[in-house]
Amino acid sequence: MVELRENEQRTLHALKKLSGKGSVDRILNASGLVHAAVMRAALVLQEKGLIEIHESKQTIITLSEEGRRYAEKGLPEKRLIQSLIKLGGEAPVEEAVEKARLDKKITTIALGWLHRKGWAKLDEKAHVLRKLKEPKVGTDEKLLTLLDDKAPLRAEDLSEKMQKAAAALKKRRLVEIDEKTYRELELTDSGWKQVKRGIEIVQEISQLTPELIITGKWRKVSLRKFDVTAPGPVAYPGKIHPLQQIIQMVRDAFLEMGFTEIRGPIVQTAFWNFDALFQPQDHPAREMMDTFYLSHPEKGGLPKKEVLNKVAQTHENGWTTGSRGWEYDWSPDEARRLILRTHTTAVTIRYLAEHNKPPVKVFSVDRIYRNEKVDYKHLAELHQIEGIIMDKDVTLQDLLGTLKEFYLKLGLEKVKFWPSYFPYTEPSAQAMFYVPELKTWVELCGMGLFRPEVLAPFGIDYPVLAWGGGLERLAMIKLGLGDIRYLYKNDLGWIRRTPLCPR
Ligand code: PHE
Repeated sequence: MVELRENEQRTLHALKKLSGKGSVDRILNASGLVHAAVMRAALVLQEKGLIEIHESKQTIITLSEEGRRYAEKGLPEKRLIQSLIKLGGEAPVEEAVEKARLDKKITTIALGWLHRKGWAKLDEKAHVLRKLKEPKVGTDEKLLTLLDDKAPLRAEDLSEKMQKAAAALKKRRLVEIDEKTYRELELTDSGWKQVKRGIEIVQEISQLTPELIITGKWRKVSLRKFDVTAPGPVAYPGKIHPLQQIIQMVRDAFLEMGFTEIRGPIVQTAFWNFDALFQPQDHPAREMMDTFYLSHPEKGGLPKKEVLNKVAQTHENGWTTGSRGWEYDWSPDEARRLILRTHTTAVTIRYLAEHNKPPVKVFSVDRIYRNEKVDYKHLAELHQIEGIIMDKDVTLQDLLGTLKEFYLKLGLEKVKFWPSYFPYTEPSAQAMFYVPELKTWVELCGMGLFRPEVLAPFGIDYPVLAWGGGLERLAMIKLGLGDIRYLYKNDLGWIRRTPLCPR
């Protein structure tokens, strides 16, 4: 004996009353259950082999609001011609319209159809309406009446003529034609056996009440079972934006490794962004195409003369660093120009200039700006991750080890280091990460040991390990994005789908 629940028993009972077969609608009527309950029960019964569910597509015709009105009062053209007949077959338009009690809005429609159906003609000059022939009851009117009595109708049950009329009435928006799935349930042989064994409908309790508990009745009633594996509605809790989560992850990684966070202004002088980093004043990165320059105000302040002179000399002839410098006339005016920082190295060098004694171990995660055309892999406003370590005996090996550990904390294992070039570091390298989906290596950050030309003017006597790289790149890898712009689109669907905790 198959164990069945209340609604399943009720559905079987209804099917029995319907001699073993019936549409879902009829089962609704026979069982008193709601649609969802019958469908759920039907699926269970089908699974247990007690019934079969037959599905077919049907074209259902129903009356629209306007159609229903005309079905009662007659089509406007019919009403108009009948009034005309009463007026003797010929009358001024206004008179006929008034007699038919047609609404102003439908007069033109009525006249149009009168003409089309050949029932009457409008003599434009004399402005009189003249009957042409006896108006027969058209198929469209028959269909309206039929629908009024028996809607909904299945198109499949109608004659071809009627189906054409339905299409015409649809154009007049008097009927609606919809595709519907029609379901019929039918008892199988084992379903019949089950029914014959007897249907016992035991009321199920779906909610425990205090009363049931206090009186102890809960022991006797049949409690409705819940399917805890059934999918529930998806909930979208409020959460932190995915990019902000990645920023937090990066911060945590740095903090766990003993770094302190620093921040600096977004607007910097070219001095801190370029000159202090030994980038010559004719360096292509300084051009308008790459860097945003400010117009109001145009210039900012520079550090004190003493430091400035050392920077100037280093650029011009290498000062005491043993370098020959860039061999040009360094201009303080160029260094004074205000820009939106193009990298956060501007922040770290400025910090170093003010903290030139070891140890220094700081980082920043902040916004930078580049005059880029925005596309799937470029943004004009983005974030950089930047870190520096200054201490007595630190070496390139420490830098590589630190970065390896840092990226490992962020879940990136396959990281390699390739040689690279930056005007302010020697040696220089870049960290690369292998993305299996793209089958390529992508750059994570640039790094190196600051050159003496960078350190000497600020009186820094110890090696400085420095690195910096894009945050969005990292976010794309972590979030599996192919288009960087997604991070700033505020596409609610994407934000919702992104897990609460990135891997
Ligand atoms: N500033 C470099 C960039 O924007 C990265 C870098 C930082 C390289 C520090 C070397 C040292 O790509």
